[in-house]
Amino acid sequence: MPRNGFLPFSLPDIGQGEINEVVKVLSSGWITSGQKVAAFEKAFAEYVGSPYALTLTSCTAGLHLAMEILDLQPGDEVITTSLTWPATVNMIHLCGGRPVFVDVERDTFNLDVSQVEEAITDRTRAILPVHFAGQSCELEKLRKICKDHSIELIEDAAHAVGSEYKGARIGSGNNMAVFSFHPIKNMTTGEGGMITTHNSEIFERLRTLRFHGVDKDAWKRYGRGEKAGYELYHPGWKYNMTDIQAAIGLVQLERLDGMIEKRMTLAALYDDLLSEVHEITRPGRVPYDIRHAWHLYTIQVDRDKTGIPRDEFMEEMGKRNIGTGLHFRAVHELSFYKNHYPLPVGSLPETEFISESIVSLPLYPGMNESDVYNVVAAIRDIVKKFKE
Ligand SMILES: Cc1ncc(COP(=O)(O)O)c(C=O)c1O
Repeated sequence: MPRNGFLPFSLPDIGQGEINEVVKVLSSGWITSGQKVAAFEKAFAEYVGSPYALTLTSCTAGLHLAMEILDLQPGDEVITTSLTWPATVNMIHLCGGRPVFVDVERDTFNLDVSQVEEAITDRTRAILPVHFAGQSCELEKLRKICKDHSIELIEDAAHAVGSEYKGARIGSGNNMAVFSFHPIKNMTTGEGGMITTHNSEIFERLRTLRFHGVDKDAWKRYGRGEKAGYELYHPGWKYNMTDIQAAIGLVQLERLDGMIEKRMTLAALYDDLLSEVHEITRPGRVPYDIRHAWHLYTIQVDRDKTGIPRDEFMEEMGKRNIGTGLHFRAVHELSFYKNHYPLPVGSLPETEFISESIVSLPLYPGMNESDVYNVVAAIRDIVKKFKE
């Protein structure tokens, strides 16, 4: 019996608090970047433990600006994962760099740090890992490799708002870390992003690159008592967040820990119930001390064990009124990257296997325990039907 009513894969958790704050901004006479943006940046910097945080229109914008800061020259390489949303790799390519893929671990889906060092060449400029699903990569080892080879670490922290590594929040490190506030993420601003750094010079460059390259944003140019005029030393983009978005972000940030707790409870229930469905592989855990933000709950549907290919499994879930997500198809297997950076099949065996078998199950604070029971019942039903 399929459940009554469709269970979406993801839903943003927007309450009356967010709505009230948006209404206030809309009535205030100032709706683009202003004091709400400044307040959100300050609150976020304090939350993660970084001296500087800069709002943006998306995480992709942040990855773009981080690549600009690297000033990649033709042939320069950036080591990254292929098990990511294309934005991570696109920004390396579009900024003139060459993405170099390192395989991931079969169970955690994070970069296999033991393979990173052998991928370094004299053209390597940076390592760009993804904290998959909000489970931190092995940062100490990555930082040591970067230090030993005088290259940069830039964290794609799109999934990792509120994640911790050995007691420190993601984003509290010296290096740049880039976050996403897309509606499916652990907190949202509609669309949006944030970049953190400890380096005041890099922060200033990011700040001007975010807004055309001019040294004064709209708030300063139109503010009372401010001098007219502005200067431009390097052209930039238009990646500034609005006060409308920041008003949502301020409320979401206050609620973030509570929302993550709810995700943890639901993930623990999935773990428990799925421990009895032996055909399905549950997401693995890293062996070091972290706080998992549970952005995604990703299982592996291995056709050999379940009797059904992943794509069909997702369709069957849909027929049972359960939404699912695909995070991610391996980027090196997408047409553009296959043509531009060809790699023989089997070059990244774990990534390739995971890309074929991964499925994200519904996970968000608005769900309740009976939703999780429904999802697992649907999985059991499919496995029973197709295994025979
Ligand atoms: C790993 C990763 N990096 C980057 C992004 C891009 O984030 P945004 O949509 O905020 O640009 C995403 C989005 O899903 C992502 O999953």
